[in-house]
Amino acid sequence: MNILVVGSGGREHAIIKKLKEGREDLKIFAIPGNGGIAADAVCLPEISAKDIDAIADFAEMNRIDFAVVAPDDPLVLGAVDKLHEKGIPCFGPDKKAARIEGSKVFAKMLMKKYNIPTASYEVFDNADDALSCIKTSKLPIVIKADGLALGKGVFICNDLASAEKAVKEIMLNKIFGDSGNKVVIEEYLTGPEVSVLCFTDGKTIVPMVSSMDHKRALDGDEGLNTGGMGTIAPNPYFTEEVAKECMEKIFMPTINAMNAEDSKFKGCLYFGLMLTENGPKVIEYNCRFGDPETQVVLPLLKTDLLDIMIATENECLDSVNVEFSNGSACCVVIASGGYPQKYNTGYEIKIDEASIADNISIFHAGTKLVDGKTVTSSGRVLGVTAVADSLKEAIDDAYKACSYINFTDCYYRKDIGKRALEA
Ligand code: AMP
Ligand code: GLY
Repeated sequence: MNILVVGSGGREHAIIKKLKEGREDLKIFAIPGNGGIAADAVCLPEISAKDIDAIADFAEMNRIDFAVVAPDDPLVLGAVDKLHEKGIPCFGPDKKAARIEGSKVFAKMLMKKYNIPTASYEVFDNADDALSCIKTSKLPIVIKADGLALGKGVFICNDLASAEKAVKEIMLNKIFGDSGNKVVIEEYLTGPEVSVLCFTDGKTIVPMVSSMDHKRALDGDEGLNTGGMGTIAPNPYFTEEVAKECMEKIFMPTINAMNAEDSKFKGCLYFGLMLTENGPKVIEYNCRFGDPETQVVLPLLKTDLLDIMIATENECLDSVNVEFSNGSACCVVIASGGYPQKYNTGYEIKIDEASIADNISIFHAGTKLVDGKTVTSSGRVLGVTAVADSLKEAIDDAYKACSYINFTDCYYRKDIGKRALEA
């Protein structure tokens, strides 16, 4: 079977490695892929993950039997619609359903209309109104650009001046382009955060093992927000009781709401949750696998991933028994020093392969091949995942593996999983 995976990060590497597990019959192509994915798939670095016409043409010409569209951009742009037009089955939501991530205004409207618990909010399409709202709001306050913003469109503001600055940057200076035509101004919530990725075919929803991201750049959750500096799974805060409440009040109602809005969601729906004093609330929806969450969740999956994905597309997910191992996983992201701000790339990555244990997966995120050498090419470079019986062992093993990896300016947080162990 010919499989196409769209994307180029650690998430896509984890998806490809899991697809291949125990399947000799798959030929996998990656658009564009990266230096590490090249060992597991045929990469097409000349095609951008955002060029949805080129993706669909490639898939048609190369007789792709099934496509997996992993990143937010092509999903929101309508890659799945284009592939479907060519008759190619896909894993991922169509353009209409991808609005659940592509527009925070749509997501908030959905939650309000269908009584799905979330932070209270207001939407503004002009800066003057947004600025006068802030003046009378309780602090801290959360300001979010409506559209996609590389995960950087959320501002937690502790004072009036920074809130005004955020509105001006988003709406007047257009730092996120048209994504800032509208803003959501939202109540600040507190509590432990949980990420839950779910398979859904629009009828059945199957939560995967829960996880915890570490979004800040520095130890102790200090520093700037990043795409994610590490993850652990399962998340100790997501107890069976919380899971049951989320299924009743959040997961199933979201699927029903999307159907009621004529936007049936098929693929991976990501729930970013905050467990507040008043129960679990949705912080954000993503229309895709999270990254680096996927790098701890998929290594724990026991069921054949392609079987699940095909059943999702064929709307018979209820016929698959999706199973996860009882173990734990920890992923430490190794980044370029300076990320998420200024950093240099092009440094050769050295891995002492003989010292890397069998329970370790090294997922490539920002790497490329130059003259046969693997070099850094982006902010987040590698995701080092360990799977073990306990969380403590998984953390220790992931950090041990990190000590055998080096490149100039290499940086990683030293406290991934610490909070989870203390919980
Ligand atoms: P997002 O990009 O939507 O995932 O938001 C980034 C981070 O901002 C989240 O993981 C939360 O830690 C934080 N955040 C977003 N919305 C809120 C909120 N209403 N209250 C408190 N923190 C929030
Ligand atoms: N790790 C958060 C995300 O994928 O959006």
